[in-house]
Amino acid sequence: MFGKLLRKKTAADLPSYEERLAAAKERPMPVHIAIIMDGNGRWAKQRKLPRIAGHHEGMKTVRKTTLFASRLGVEVLTLYAFSTENWKRPKREIDFLMKLPGEFLSTYLPELVENNVKVEMIGSADLLPVHTKEAIERAMQETSSNDGMVLNFAMNYGSRFEISEAVKKIAVQLQQDELALSEITEETVSKAMMTCHLPDPDLLIRTSGEVRLSNFMLWQLAYAELAFTEVLWPDFDEHTMLTIIEDYQKRSRRFGSLEGNELT
Ligand code: IPE
Ligand code: IPE
Ligand code: MG
Repeated sequence: MFGKLLRKKTAADLPSYEERLAAAKERPMPVHIAIIMDGNGRWAKQRKLPRIAGHHEGMKTVRKTTLFASRLGVEVLTLYAFSTENWKRPKREIDFLMKLPGEFLSTYLPELVENNVKVEMIGSADLLPVHTKEAIERAMQETSSNDGMVLNFAMNYGSRFEISEAVKKIAVQLQQDELALSEITEETVSKAMMTCHLPDPDLLIRTSGEVRLSNFMLWQLAYAELAFTEVLWPDFDEHTMLTIIEDYQKRSRRFGSLEGNELT
């Protein structure tokens, strides 16, 4: 009897990846996951490769993560692909990054369609090169009738820009008497955002060990659970994502209130 009690846990006692996955699926899944895909440059540097090689590898992670999230039953996956601040990078890197949506979508669009994924975008398309804009528009059109997971690319996206634009929209509505001052609420502000039709993210993941938001979804992340991993984006995989989701599922989201059993 004591022999059994004292026996050390071995690897064989631990649940397998498949068992963990099945268990996680039984628990509440984050409806909306937002990811700051960071660390492509450092991944390339570690391998003495040019930074763009890291971005190219990162594109494959986008595919894997999309399919995995869709399999898990996540409803919205927002991926931060290019920030309004990323224009500060060298032109050759920007040019490469702007070609990635075209390459990604021409390679993987059939698979996205097959998996009922709906492609959307937040950010301003105005400043994007025509070929980038066209690739994204085509993907949005070809997946517009899909009703599975929304794959939302944040492309030339900046949260402060988004908020300033929302303020302008509301100001115009006010000026034109379409809205009264008393009608400006958290809901009207949310409705003026580029994410107006989406729920707020439940979980934010940032890869590469940086612990900051870098101008990403500042309004929408007000009550998101935050997860930071040291893993660089090109190395991010289902195992890391499952571990993060398991951790998320252990957390108690109180939204300022108390646990259900503490409320009485
Ligand atoms: C993230 O990787 C991709 C974009 C910001 C476009 P980085 O290019 O920022 O990689 P690091 O942070 O330099 O390693
Ligand atoms: C944030 O990563 C933007 C994207 C992932 C698209 P950055 O690498 O640009 O962020 P900082 O400069 O480290 O804050
Ligand atoms: Mg970075």
